[in-house]
Amino acid sequence: METLTATKTATKAVWPAYEFQTVLDASERVNWRVEDLIGKGKHLDFTRPFLPEALARVQPLDFLTLRERIVLNQIRAHDYLYTFGLVEEFILPFVLDHARPMLRGNDARVRAFLNFAGEEAKHIDLFRRFRADFLDSFKSPCDVIGPPEAIAQAVLSKHPLAVALVILQIEWMTQRHYLESIADDPNLDPQFKSLLKHHWMEESQHAKLDTLMVQAISESCSTEERAAAIDGYLEIGGMLDTGLMQQVQFDFESFKRATGRAFTTEETERFLAVQQQATRWTYIGSGMSHKNFLATAELVSPGAAERLAAIVPLFS
Ligand SMILES: [Fe+2]
Ligand SMILES: [Fe+2]
Repeated sequence: METLTATKTATKAVWPAYEFQTVLDASERVNWRVEDLIGKGKHLDFTRPFLPEALARVQPLDFLTLRERIVLNQIRAHDYLYTFGLVEEFILPFVLDHARPMLRGNDARVRAFLNFAGEEAKHIDLFRRFRADFLDSFKSPCDVIGPPEAIAQAVLSKHPLAVALVILQIEWMTQRHYLESIADDPNLDPQFKSLLKHHWMEESQHAKLDTLMVQAISESCSTEERAAAIDGYLEIGGMLDTGLMQQVQFDFESFKRATGRAFTTEETERFLAVQQQATRWTYIGSGMSHKNFLATAELVSPGAAERLAAIVPLFS
């Protein structure tokens, strides 16, 4: 009987043992300055792709010339700069609100969360400066969804546990993008790759802190609230997806403007279908299917991992 109990306890899923002090130490070790990554002679090289093919998915559009595919890759990279800047607009106030009540508590915890917020503010600036450099050389305008403040307000109106899950998904998504498709790609523009690398370096700590944040909020919620937070997470995902699908339409217009290319009906349909799924995978599927994200969702509400995994193919 004792053996059975022990076995059951050993296999029970538990929250990861991340520690604030360790995360804080890592954050202080990797810290970098935006000024060292862009400007002062450092600019994007428009002869090269900016995003890895796993995210851009321009190669299936084989009716485009090689040069046109690079232009589309760059328009998608412009989205990446804008979209990350946009999501950081709601991550920053959310993290600050979470840290506010604990200012007199555990020192490492407070400092880790304040660093998290400070880094996100820095990332907003990072993405903004790269975007300015991009538009300076690209010349043709790239339309974007927004405004970011309105999207941030809509997201933040949801239950904090649902918002924290969305943020956690974004943090793991960033890890996956870099490790699985960027780190070993020798073809990317070195400047854009450096942005992605430096963002990843700090987001590694955010993924852990956000897991601790989800755990803290989850432990203060009832079983019903935790189950509802999974619905809330999916509602925010649906809202973001609507915006992203609008962005794909904008990208199509931006692409036609930049290249002057005409499309047949068949090519238009193919372009939109491929780019819609590429965009869904980039910002939703790659995070939603991350094993660490699914493990946390399951700890929040048993059954959530299976439910979310069943939805992933829509965003792949
Ligand atoms: Fe960030
Ligand atoms: Fe982050």
